[in-house]
Amino acid sequence: MRHVPVLLKEVLEVIAPKDRGRYFDGTVGAGSHARAILEKSSPGGLLAGTDLDDGAIKEARKTLSSYKGRFFLFNSCYTEIVSICQSLGWEELDGILVDLGLSSMLLEDGPRGFSFRTEGPLDMRYSSKEALSAYEVVNKYPRERLVSILRDYGEERFANRIAGAIVSRRPLNTTKQLAEIVSMAIPRRYWPKRIHPATRTFQAIRIEVNKELDRLKDFLDIAPGLLSHNGVIAVISFHSLEDRIVKQSFKDRNHPSGVTLKPVSNKPIRPSEKELSQNPRARSARLRAARRTN
Ligand SMILES: C[S@@+](CC[C@H](N)C(=O)[O-])C[C@H]1O[C@@H](n2cnc3c(N)ncnc32)[C@H](O)[C@@H]1O
Repeated sequence: MRHVPVLLKEVLEVIAPKDRGRYFDGTVGAGSHARAILEKSSPGGLLAGTDLDDGAIKEARKTLSSYKGRFFLFNSCYTEIVSICQSLGWEELDGILVDLGLSSMLLEDGPRGFSFRTEGPLDMRYSSKEALSAYEVVNKYPRERLVSILRDYGEERFANRIAGAIVSRRPLNTTKQLAEIVSMAIPRRYWPKRIHPATRTFQAIRIEVNKELDRLKDFLDIAPGLLSHNGVIAVISFHSLEDRIVKQSFKDRNHPSGVTLKPVSNKPIRPSEKELSQNPRARSARLRAARRTN
């Protein structure tokens, strides 16, 4: 299945791409948001995009092929934003976007090990160049460290029982094995209603493997410093841990980047009923944006 961009109309409204503007898409994925930004900023807008997944970069190259000369893609982490802008000779950006989380491409790619529904190895790395995979977290981490990860990154109330079950069944090799052990560790009457019982555990391990919250904090500390006056930074997040980090950063009156930010709205922007009926993946999406005012 192709990745359907989340909150696309809303992203375009807050970033308001313009001719000759310069934009940075930190999680370019299949390139759907990037394509819309390039289209709206025609004929002279430029876009730099990063993604840790080299498959995503190849896909984005195809999606953006009709905008040749106006986009620059990098198989790197979005925290490289400063060096990337320097390499392009860009001093300022008019809009910055990150759309966190998983793409449908990654979720449905069994061998990448992100899904509890598809059999796959315990991997979960966005970038195959990185050393730490879900296998090490599941099989090598001490029990107490696993408990903290499940609690802090999965908000999982059965963290203790799940960690105990994992440790006693080591070595685990596949996503389905892990999903089954987690499901069995949670009393059936406490299984969540709308999500698979292993959802929180998979989220927690994925966050640990990809250092998602640390990278997001680092990025939010530096990226606004590149915005032009009135430039906008927009972040789409998919769970409360990320949303809290974004909200706090945008409200910070002493922002580490040295610029003054004003949130575009107090509350996060949520998908419309229409979007939710067409794309269930958008269910937990929240968009926050802030404008540089100094
Ligand atoms: C939800 S998808 C983005 C979809 C994209 N907006 C589109 O329109 O197709 C998230 C992407 O972020 C990438 N990603 C996750 N963490 C990253 C990071 N720290 N740096 C760069 N890319 C990252 C993933 O590989 C994935 O392709």
